[in-house]
Amino acid sequence: MRKIPTTSVPISLTDIMAGLPAAFFSGDSQAELERTFAKYIGVKHCLAVNKGTTALYLGLLAMKKMTPHKTEVVLPAYTVPTLTLAINMAGLKTRLCDISPDTFNMDPESLEKCVSPNTLAVVPVHMFGFPCALTRIREICRNVGAFMLEDPAQAMGAELDGKKVGAHGDTALFSLCKGKVISTYFGGLAVTDNDEMTLLMRKAREQLPPAPRNWANPLILTAFALAMRPEVYGALYSLIARYKSTTVHEHFRPSRYTDFQAAVALRLLPKLDEIVAARIKTGQTMYDALKEYNWLMLPQIVPGSMPIYNHLPVVFKDKERLRLVEEMLWQNGIDTARMYQHPIHQIYDLGYNNNPDPFPNSTYVAERLLTLPSHPYMTAADVERIITVFKRIDQTL
Ligand SMILES: Cc1ncc(COP(=O)(O)O)c(C=O)c1O
Repeated sequence: MRKIPTTSVPISLTDIMAGLPAAFFSGDSQAELERTFAKYIGVKHCLAVNKGTTALYLGLLAMKKMTPHKTEVVLPAYTVPTLTLAINMAGLKTRLCDISPDTFNMDPESLEKCVSPNTLAVVPVHMFGFPCALTRIREICRNVGAFMLEDPAQAMGAELDGKKVGAHGDTALFSLCKGKVISTYFGGLAVTDNDEMTLLMRKAREQLPPAPRNWANPLILTAFALAMRPEVYGALYSLIARYKSTTVHEHFRPSRYTDFQAAVALRLLPKLDEIVAARIKTGQTMYDALKEYNWLMLPQIVPGSMPIYNHLPVVFKDKERLRLVEEMLWQNGIDTARMYQHPIHQIYDLGYNNNPDPFPNSTYVAERLLTLPSHPYMTAADVERIITVFKRIDQTL
């Protein structure tokens, strides 16, 4: 039976075949990818590595070299928990601020209370492809002399005030891992306009181990590309489910990127605008249909921004209704995700006293959020089935 995966990227077998020579022979696919992606974002420099987390790590190492006396990095308490691993590895300390229940992104008022002259960097994360309002955050960074390190890993192609996200901060990290707008199964890209930072990041990257060149990467990427197609996903779900990551990682291994993955990414980049357009169409249709329900919360769209719907996040005021919708969508052939069910301060011990909860909005959203798929393999009928499930639940109230 056809089933819609939570996330998917249209990678063709031709894309993978085109990358094959780079799996075995040295070439310049990484340098070309870096040039092409920097141009796409509208910045001067790009560095490819094995993970978005590694791109964050390199950015932090560079910032630490430029401002050695500062030791703290601020994250929103509701985001990808593993960002803290890069902060630890860079020898820095994670500080958290709350999110806004209106946008599900970093709340500037909470941020203002937790920055200090010791803040090296603030990391606004554009969750689910919805750009954060950056004007106030940038001002707060300036007031304490902190860098703004954007995380648009889920927002490749999104725009804010006429500029791509990722071009607003001192540096930014993108990810090419499994759940992203384009993916090569793993990969990360750091972008910046800052020459000094680029030099420092390049030096730090030279210290990283190279990624191995072998058959495994093309095979894994082929399996991923096939498994994320609705027909295969449905047929092999019980097998695929084992590979869905459900645990929070305690470690990450930074390394360089592979020529093979870079060659495939170069094939995907020309399709990016089309993929983004399909996501916006699907995401907006669902957003417009669901925003009328007062038992749901959807993220407000920041004026002047264009979200790209890496997913459509919906927060249920009533947890029981979340469970019902999740189950009904599954019965209707739609897989959903609960990203991330706990805020960072409840996952890692960062020295916060959690009673009373220091970041209640983050906890509220984490416990009640369901992400709906919005990838290019979805048809108008799939979107309609999702909307109908919500309609039915609404009618039973
Ligand atoms: C917002 C965000 N930042 C950073 C990352 C880390 O990227 P990677 O898994 O490539 O290290 C992710 C990946 O899930 C993410 O969603």
